[in-house]
Amino acid sequence: MSEEQLLVRRIREGTVIDHIDAGKALLVLRALGITGREGSVVTVAMNVPSVKLGKKDIIKIEGRLLAADETNKIALIAPKATINIVSDYRVREKRRVELPDEFIGVFNCPNPSCISNSERSVASRIEVLDKEKQKLRCWYCRRILEANELISSIH
Ligand code: CTP
Ligand code: ZN
Repeated sequence: MSEEQLLVRRIREGTVIDHIDAGKALLVLRALGITGREGSVVTVAMNVPSVKLGKKDIIKIEGRLLAADETNKIALIAPKATINIVSDYRVREKRRVELPDEFIGVFNCPNPSCISNSERSVASRIEVLDKEKQKLRCWYCRRILEANELISSIH
């Protein structure tokens, strides 16, 4: 049994987000909008030894099967993440994350005078112009944005 399996037990049903870059698990939870108040059992393991990554974070969300449009929200934060859909203790589906065409309400635009920051009812909308080069732009103020400034805008 691997060290990881000793740390967090296998789940019966739910979603396991594996191979998250070490230290990014809490940002991943925020991008997914998971606060812990939903009531489902959520296990977070950080800085777990990994053969592939050296160290990694893992999140297990029990009782929820997250669809691709949901889990793709984490593609900027955890590009190497593997999504495992588990039922009856078996991994039924394993997929990678992919950058979506746009992020709605996930990141905050770093431009303080952007309407998405001043109007509470306006959800941020960040377009992905080039998935390979990670070229991103705010749909409202048209500012070109860096992946890093968006990631640090999550709070
Ligand atoms: N897992 C779990 N509960 C299960 C089945 C799997 O929590 N009932 C978790 C495992 O602990 C692991 C992830 O889901 O973190 C993927 O499981 P599996 O595909 O069995 O592991 P690996 O083959 O090591 O995955 P990979 O090839 O993606 O590294
Ligand atoms: Zn903007």
